[in-house]
Amino acid sequence: MSLLDVSGVSKSFSTGRDFLGRPKRSLPAVHDVSLTLDKGECLAVVGESGAGKSTLGRMVLRLIKPDAGRVTFDGIDVLGVGSAQMRRLRQRMQMIFQDPHSSLNPRMSVAEAVAEPLLVHSDLGRVDRQKRAAELLDRVGIGHRYLARYPAELSGGQLQRVAIARALTLKPSLIVCDEPVAALDVSVRAQVLNLLRDLQEEFGLAYLFVSHDLALVEVIADRVLVMAEGRTVEQGTVQQIFQAPTEEYTQRLLAAIPVPVPRDASGQRMIDVARS
Ligand SMILES: Nc1ncnc2c1ncn2[C@@H]1O[C@H](COP(=O)(O)OP(=O)(O)OP(=O)(O)O)[C@@H](O)[C@H]1O
Ligand SMILES: [Mg+2]
Repeated sequence: MSLLDVSGVSKSFSTGRDFLGRPKRSLPAVHDVSLTLDKGECLAVVGESGAGKSTLGRMVLRLIKPDAGRVTFDGIDVLGVGSAQMRRLRQRMQMIFQDPHSSLNPRMSVAEAVAEPLLVHSDLGRVDRQKRAAELLDRVGIGHRYLARYPAELSGGQLQRVAIARALTLKPSLIVCDEPVAALDVSVRAQVLNLLRDLQEEFGLAYLFVSHDLALVEVIADRVLVMAEGRTVEQGTVQQIFQAPTEEYTQRLLAAIPVPVPRDASGQRMIDVARS
């Protein structure tokens, strides 16, 4: 059994209203998409802007309710559970967003932001919560001198590290990463990506990794789901998609990577993203 099993999910958004107040048109954002994700695995979702990647990621966490289809996490019907069980499920399924500025509360210190989920979901006392937050922040490369600082005092890369620590607080097994490094300076992208990769290994995390940047995807993903206009174009292992894409759409996406990663005769990557 897969950790995550998404079967035939669809979602349409209606745009505007007519003179009787009825929704004018219903535009499909995601149509009949299925995927599976095993423990510790990384599935990248790629495609152009508007392809439905974020909508798909949000449906997995039930932040958006699909119009049709099923989402099963660890054998549990995510769309069918009540709110109490959903709260428990949310501990095990986390999300990291593109913009860490908007995902962190500006009035909460870094340590408070990371400790807060424990206040809600655990019975740890204040000292233990702070201790756990400090450990996690240390693990993601945020030193002790930042614990009492506020988001406005940190760089984008530091903030994304804080958001990652916060996502890890409750020991999730799945993290939906929606363009987690796209908003960061090019110089820190590789470091944050490597951090995500190291944490994945250390904690056995599964990632649903939404990205339009195929160069990153090739480094972090095991498998790739290519989407266009809300539909699945093709799915395969990184090797299949990058070396033998069957669909013209995928070939065009790949051709648009600015600098192809050089490969040796056996098809192995000759460079890797520098480790931090
Ligand atoms: N809340 C919403 N209300 C109305 N339409 C929406 C909403 N969210 C998404 N859409 C539409 O659904 C489609 C898919 O959007 P989505 O954000 O999932 O794409 P995406 O692949 O994540 O794009 P990007 O790469 O730009 O983030 C788009 O046409 C978008 O305009
Ligand atoms: Mg998006």
